[in-house]
Amino acid sequence: MKLSLVIPTYNERKNILQLLKKIQEEFKKNNIQGEIIVVDDNSPDGTGKILDETKIKIKNLKIIHRKGKFGLSSAVLDGWKIAEGEILGAMDADLSHPPEKIKELFWEIENGKADFAIGSRYAPGGEIKGWGFKRKLMSKTATLLARVYTKVKDPMTGFFMIKRTCIKDKKINPKGFKILLELIIKANYKIIKEIPIIFNNRIEGKSKAGTKEIFCYLQNLIGYLPYKKKVIREFFKFAFVGGIGTIINVLLLYILTEKVGVYYLLSAIVSFLIAMTSNFILNKVWTFKENIRLNAKKKYFQFTLVSIIVLIVNLFFLYLFTEIFEIYYLISQVLAIGIALIINFFGNKIWTF
Ligand code: GDD
Ligand code: MN
Repeated sequence: MKLSLVIPTYNERKNILQLLKKIQEEFKKNNIQGEIIVVDDNSPDGTGKILDETKIKIKNLKIIHRKGKFGLSSAVLDGWKIAEGEILGAMDADLSHPPEKIKELFWEIENGKADFAIGSRYAPGGEIKGWGFKRKLMSKTATLLARVYTKVKDPMTGFFMIKRTCIKDKKINPKGFKILLELIIKANYKIIKEIPIIFNNRIEGKSKAGTKEIFCYLQNLIGYLPYKKKVIREFFKFAFVGGIGTIINVLLLYILTEKVGVYYLLSAIVSFLIAMTSNFILNKVWTFKENIRLNAKKKYFQFTLVSIIVLIVNLFFLYLFTEIFEIYYLISQVLAIGIALIINFFGNKIWTF
């Protein structure tokens, strides 16, 4: 057995048979030795029953019936537990992912061009059809947040394949929907490839993504921090650079005002700009280890914009803590700086660098 493709289902009665048929065709047409593992969570619409009835007709089909709705990620993992293939895959049941792309993902790995292949909606040539503005925005935001951990363009897709050996002895256990990001962070692979796909919103049935998934995702994101020592290291370097910047700022303000005789508001602006520029340079070459010339102008502009936004955020929290929560203003400022630092770091890490 080469490929084990897991399809999690919850209320997919109107989709699953059509998808199974298409996958079978793809396997046959492209000579793929594959099995399909459907993991159903006791769907109230009777998906499980339909599957049992078809099982007799399809020989390389396995079905797992779980007692309740335990979530998409765990369904995929449970499917992989009984998988016999060397390549493990996952795909949605609602016909959103194009079965014609199975072969492309499969051959990338089978031919040794990659050990991890994902069906990407955000790679050039990929697309999402049928989603409204709100869903698109949510997806983009989630993808942007994941940038802290990976440069993969679509770490949220539910269509991917990975070599079994890449996850050997790894503890994979995400909450909720987003299993792929966790694999990207924890699995042991050399080459990951994004194959563009066109995602079509489902026609039958309803999406199971809800507010709960957002919270699971945020929880997951925080939980991954220890896996990325690099991010933590960058954070402390960034904070240190900020400290140096503050010293430069105050020192220059003093020198320009007292020794050179510049009007103090003007020298405040000048010293702020110089300190910010030095922060930018130090962060670029030291914190984020980038060549100083790489997109320097654009990045300097982005860095400046984040700095200004952070300044406003800082003032906002200073006001909030002091006036509304009635905290002593110097303590408020310490708290506000803490919040501003976090926003500053992630803002620049995700957007600028
Ligand atoms: N067994 C099981 N248990 N299956 C589930 C569960 C569950 O609790 N929740 C959802 N599924 C199945 C659905 O039946 C479907 O086959 C697949 O998982 C995806 O669920 P959808 O409800 O169709 O999700 P979506 O279209 O909103 O989200 C898809 O796109 C996202 C990308 O933005 C999924 O592929 C997500 O994984 C992906 O992140
Ligand atoms: Mn869907």
